[in-house]
Amino acid sequence: MLRVINILLACCAISSPPLGYLPGLSIMHLHGMSDMAAECGSGNCDAWAARDPSGILSPYKFNRREVQSEDVSLRITHCGVCYADVIWTRNMFNDSIYPLVPGYCFKIPADYPLSKAAPLLCAGITVYTPMIRHNMNQPGKSLGVIGLGGLGHMAVKFGKAFGLKVTVFSTSESKREEAINLLGADNFVISSDENQMESLKSSLHFIIDTASGDHQFDPYLSLLKVGGVMVLLSFPSEIKVHPENLNLAARSLSGSVTGGTKDIQEMINFCAANNVYPDIEMIKIDYVNEALQRLINRDVRFRFVIDIENSFK
Ligand SMILES: NC(=O)c1ccc[n+]([C@@H]2O[C@H](COP(=O)([O-])OP(=O)(O)OC[C@H]3O[C@@H](n4cnc5c(N)ncnc54)[C@H](OP(=O)(O)O)[C@@H]3O)[C@@H](O)[C@H]2O)c1
Repeated sequence: MLRVINILLACCAISSPPLGYLPGLSIMHLHGMSDMAAECGSGNCDAWAARDPSGILSPYKFNRREVQSEDVSLRITHCGVCYADVIWTRNMFNDSIYPLVPGYCFKIPADYPLSKAAPLLCAGITVYTPMIRHNMNQPGKSLGVIGLGGLGHMAVKFGKAFGLKVTVFSTSESKREEAINLLGADNFVISSDENQMESLKSSLHFIIDTASGDHQFDPYLSLLKVGGVMVLLSFPSEIKVHPENLNLAARSLSGSVTGGTKDIQEMINFCAANNVYPDIEMIKIDYVNEALQRLINRDVRFRFVIDIENSFK
């Protein structure tokens, strides 16, 4: 039976073993896929691909075989834009293969707005998974969120939905008003302000680190209470930690990567039941290169979503 399913295309960072449990590919490396003729300029599928480490995306056609009786045909409607797309399109991990079309697929319920659901499948699940794993859903506890971008703003929203006291650590003073009044954060701290950082020493139960660039860890670890947990979600080029910031207060530094299908469904249900919706800026595909540059410039409130259907009409 041939079925057509509305799906979202959510951009995400990961393409190999950790993704085994996700029903799709995060990145289409078109060379080497047997059913695709990955030559530019011809084919029955429209895409936008990066061709080299400049990361510039441009229209790209490739071939898929005809849908067969046992296949499921997916209609892609929306696509979130993640900082991971900057990493992959610009070959920042030195393993990108060109041409490269970023994105992956997942089915979501029909009653959640499709445009707002797209970021849940990347930013949403990436912060929800470690929050549940580390019991960050206990009302009254305190959460720090480092970096107020796509992942960070979802961490704030989940934190407030769980009843936590949320402090945002940001490099951008321009995000203060939205952090407090739009996202509902309780506190907003510019991370370079040593006095404010000092005043929060040993005060937080949990920290989620979503800062996409290189940054220090000790100033944040020292803000955790005894036994506190900091979860790293981003990919800085190195992690340096003074042992006393872990050992003397029995703190933990942990990592996490997206989440499994069961958790994704649970997270979507939680969002629907608790009116948790990402804040998005809808764009057409021909704006994607500006969008990626604005991600690098920390200039997005708070997730770009590509209107795929209207982009390819
Ligand atoms: N683990 C996973 O499964 C997974 C999944 C998806 C993404 N990621 C990674 O998570 C990170 C965040 O992704 P995203 O899509 O949320 O990115 P994003 O929307 O660009 O947000 C990242 C935020 O980090 C802050 N930041 C940027 N450079 C910084 C620096 N040098 N020092 C301190 N803060 C800095 C900025 O917030 P302020 O302006 O508030 O400072 C920026 O808005 C990326 O590294 C991405 O690759 C991981």
